[in-house]
Amino acid sequence: MCGIVGYIGKRRAYPILIKGLHRLEYRGYDSAGVALINGQGQLNIYKAKGKVAELEAYAADKDTDGTIGIAHTRWATHGEPNTINAHPHYSESERLAIIHNGIIENYAVLKQGLQAEGYTFKSDTDTEVLVQLIEYTQVNHQVDIKTAVQLALQQVVGAYAIAVLDKYHPDILIAARKGSPLVVGIGKGEFFLASDATPIVEYTDQVVYVEDEEIVKLSSAEQGAEENNIEITTINNVQKTPEIKRLELSLSQLEKGGYPHFMLKEIFEQPRTLTDSMRGRVNVRQDNIAMSGFIDNKERFLNAKRIIITACGTSWHAGLIAMYAIEEFAQIPVEVEYSSEFRYRKPVINKDDVVIAISQSGETADTLAAIQLAKSKGAFIFSICNVVGASIPRVSDSGCYTHVGPEIGVASTKAFTAQVTALTMLALCIGREKGTMSEEQYLRVVRELGQIPMKIERVLEQDKEIGQFAKIFTYAQNFIYLGRGYNYPVAMEGALKLKEISYIHAEGYPAAEMKHGPIALISQEMPVVVVAPHCSTYEKVVSNIQEIKARKGRVIAVVSEGDELVSRIADYIIEVPSTEECLTPLLTVIPLQLLAYHIAVEKGCDVDQPRNLAKSVTVE
Ligand code: AGP
Repeated sequence: MCGIVGYIGKRRAYPILIKGLHRLEYRGYDSAGVALINGQGQLNIYKAKGKVAELEAYAADKDTDGTIGIAHTRWATHGEPNTINAHPHYSESERLAIIHNGIIENYAVLKQGLQAEGYTFKSDTDTEVLVQLIEYTQVNHQVDIKTAVQLALQQVVGAYAIAVLDKYHPDILIAARKGSPLVVGIGKGEFFLASDATPIVEYTDQVVYVEDEEIVKLSSAEQGAEENNIEITTINNVQKTPEIKRLELSLSQLEKGGYPHFMLKEIFEQPRTLTDSMRGRVNVRQDNIAMSGFIDNKERFLNAKRIIITACGTSWHAGLIAMYAIEEFAQIPVEVEYSSEFRYRKPVINKDDVVIAISQSGETADTLAAIQLAKSKGAFIFSICNVVGASIPRVSDSGCYTHVGPEIGVASTKAFTAQVTALTMLALCIGREKGTMSEEQYLRVVRELGQIPMKIERVLEQDKEIGQFAKIFTYAQNFIYLGRGYNYPVAMEGALKLKEISYIHAEGYPAAEMKHGPIALISQEMPVVVVAPHCSTYEKVVSNIQEIKARKGRVIAVVSEGDELVSRIADYIIEVPSTEECLTPLLTVIPLQLLAYHIAVEKGCDVDQPRNLAKSVTVE
């Protein structure tokens, strides 16, 4: 969850680095820092706890010259958030500087060895151990900085994306990755380095995604190197040809587009993003769905005895919805696992199992580890991801990108509806191919899928009314969200949205579970949100609402347009268009996203960067 930015070239590095850190703020952090080599060969490091603005204030009267530099936003993993533990870190002699995203698991052993050699440490971080190890290697093996980094990383166990400066070589910038993302931007006479493409996109659309266990050496003629050059080798010194890709991101995608928050922009983007994620896959005219990831691996899915879905958070909720659709249409048993549990549970995984990994960021450490475990047991890995070139799709056998563009708001919205859409399309493909669903049902759902973006537009038209509701409930300390069937995971997702951005406690429950305990909580002080569209369990949900009303509960119900029954007994109604039962989550989740957003805004919360949270959980 740390953010890395680097620059080497013809321009002053500092403004580029600071702007890059701002672009990465959404990843979550608790401190920031920058290292620069100025024209006199001095290596200057400036660090500050808190926001990037604090770093800028601290560095305002300092020497920030230099056309090579690295910068970092830290999310604490070893050592509390403070200036000493913030990155960059000097080496012992202050010749080197390093920034790092990841965890060095064997840092304690390495630290002991270095201490025995007389090295001292200022911070509690694993990162400082790494830069000391690099300097120790450089001095004792009498090697150049790239070789020193290479040899040091061969001793490291863990995950890293690093950038290293050597003040005696201001013409080169060294970077490396394993398990944490790193992207190189190729400009004219300059190179950019970052954890993802957002700090790079305004300068170039030519990028190289660094692969695991690769080391990058960026040389700048402006700094005295023979030529501008990018050289990539593995940590075992195998030469690699840089694979230059064209970035699809545009800067405008990164701007808020006139909305007060990225989250609101992304909620309102959903009609378009769902259209984008179905583009080339759902052909309503031909009544057909074509997913290349399925077509290329058809036998795997058709012969699967079981499908295991592994994910975290909102992505796990999408997986839960997929379980209903896959079992209904494809009649394959599905298990939905929290990645963090699955990876340590010693699960029984067979080689004819299909594992579906769902991740917006493609960098969630627990999901990555769950995949590695399943792969080691021979399972086929299919990933649903939103970031092209991210770690999870790169280690998967196949997959499907959701193509909703960068999701900046920490609370996932457009990625969730795109994940559900992709998983529903997959379930339909398998079911049709297996013949476990009727052609009539297949056609009905495919045609209705094409209508969903327009139907979401209609739900979004109620944004103002939902904003009014929100004002009523900002007092609440607790919420319960209820749903049945396909909408039970929607209830859980609605609860997660509320708690993660408004800090109000909320729980999602299967509606029928109320009788098994939670109904004891019902009171006027605790709003109950019930997801109650017309569906096969509608009557059951109505009686659940009546049980709550009989105990003086206050009910906010999400119902289908024209609903008469629930509308008579609930306290507040939000209508969504009718649709196929399996597609109701794509509509019923929208009001819950908006309700959470408006309550959080009413409470003055930091909607896009909620406290304690990060957009991409790249540590365990
Ligand atoms: C969702 O709103 C949260 N930000 C969080 O639960 C998130 O879904 C989870 O961390 C998984 O992230 P991923 O999809 O990038 O793997």
